[in-house]
Amino acid sequence: MKQVILAAHFPGVNNHTVWSDPASGSQIDFASFAHLARTAERGKFDFFFLADGQRLREQRGRIHDLDVVGRPDALTVLAALAAVTDHLGLAATINATFNEPYEVARKLATLDHLSGGRAGWNIVTSSDAFTGENFRRGGFLDYSQRYERAEEFLRTAHELWDSWAEEDLVADPVAGTFAAEGAGAFAHHGAQFDIGGHFTVPRSPQRYPLTIQAGDSEEGREFAASTADAIFSRHSTLEAGQAFYRDIKSRLPGHGRSPDSLKILPGVTFALGDTDAEAQENADHIRRQQVSPQTAILLLEQLWNRDLSSYDADGPLPAIDPDVSEDSIIKGRARMHRDPLKTAAEWRALAEAKRLGIRDLIIEVTGRQSFIGSPARVAEEINEFVQTDAADGFILVPHLTPAGLDGFVDKVVPLLQERGVFRAEYETSTLRGHLGLENDL
Ligand SMILES: Cc1cc2nc3c(=O)[nH]c(=O)nc-3n(C[C@H](O)[C@H](O)[C@H](O)COP(=O)(O)O)c2cc1C
Repeated sequence: MKQVILAAHFPGVNNHTVWSDPASGSQIDFASFAHLARTAERGKFDFFFLADGQRLREQRGRIHDLDVVGRPDALTVLAALAAVTDHLGLAATINATFNEPYEVARKLATLDHLSGGRAGWNIVTSSDAFTGENFRRGGFLDYSQRYERAEEFLRTAHELWDSWAEEDLVADPVAGTFAAEGAGAFAHHGAQFDIGGHFTVPRSPQRYPLTIQAGDSEEGREFAASTADAIFSRHSTLEAGQAFYRDIKSRLPGHGRSPDSLKILPGVTFALGDTDAEAQENADHIRRQQVSPQTAILLLEQLWNRDLSSYDADGPLPAIDPDVSEDSIIKGRARMHRDPLKTAAEWRALAEAKRLGIRDLIIEVTGRQSFIGSPARVAEEINEFVQTDAADGFILVPHLTPAGLDGFVDKVVPLLQERGVFRAEYETSTLRGHLGLENDL
């Protein structure tokens, strides 16, 4: 039986996070991060995960409430969490377009030291000019070059982490030698980076922090297959998960890697209840919280690519067609729909057949929870997904901060442990160790 991998995603962006619920706490107080991380560690989770955005997204020229309360710097948060957890992996999303390898490698090596080998890096490549305005790089990296830079970025980071050999920290008082000659020396001359000098951080416990990849394009999949330890995927249904899993795992031998050396972790949501019927009621309630009348219009605008603020959320879909021009109504986020005219036709047909207004339609066509049911049902389904190769585990995205994971940890985790598919105690101390990848370097 395969073992299930579990990670906890801190909520905070998109309308999945219900900030309007009375039980919702601060998105930025350290106490919230600490609560979720400690809960994940109580549940023996593999790691805690922070997404990232380098600029708040805008829609219709406004920062909108779908980005709940901003995006604090992930590595700073994780460094603080390292002090209040002992085993939990700590993974940060860090962009390869708007950063430099030296500073990222240095910060990750530092986190790996501080946490005793628990650092992870989700490498993303978003490269839009809107985000670039916040940086010196200002949008000059063409979309087609995003993985060229990411690949060289990661290769350079590896060179920096390799620049200290394990025995380089000599600390020999008799000889009067602290560091070996040449420790930390590096030189990288490439198309994206031309750097040389000395790396300031001795080899960290994992040597290479765990790397995760989240892009879904052909180039993104190849990048993952060639170098990543895990993929954060959006293929969260059984069939789509299995197809994605087959696709990725079949690429690995071509890169000289074993299929087990890369773990596939879809992001998933859940709704629990004492019975399946109660869970369904909870799920429906959460969906209505996630899609307020205002949010329904915002999400409709992302398909229509038009200002629809004058529309009634309880009324019918617009008679006018989506605007398919290059200009996007949303900035800082990729377009969510590949073929807007086709999708609009499907939504219209569905709205007509089921007599749905805008809000009810949006509730129906966006973001249903992945796992809905009693703890027994959810544990069974999670295990089924893993054993039938739709995933190696999941990144769970709770809808509430900070207590959204409590019920899962208290009720679902023990059932996975009873089945023998999830650890009852941590058996290793590093993040690579938790994922069974410690010998993979
Ligand atoms: C599940 C998932 C989560 C992602 N999370 C982030 C994120 O937190 N921050 C970010 O900048 N990009 C994020 N991305 C974007 C991708 O990592 C990627 O860099 C971007 O989509 C371009 O790559 P692609 O063309 O291969 O998809 C995410 C993508 C996926 C599929």
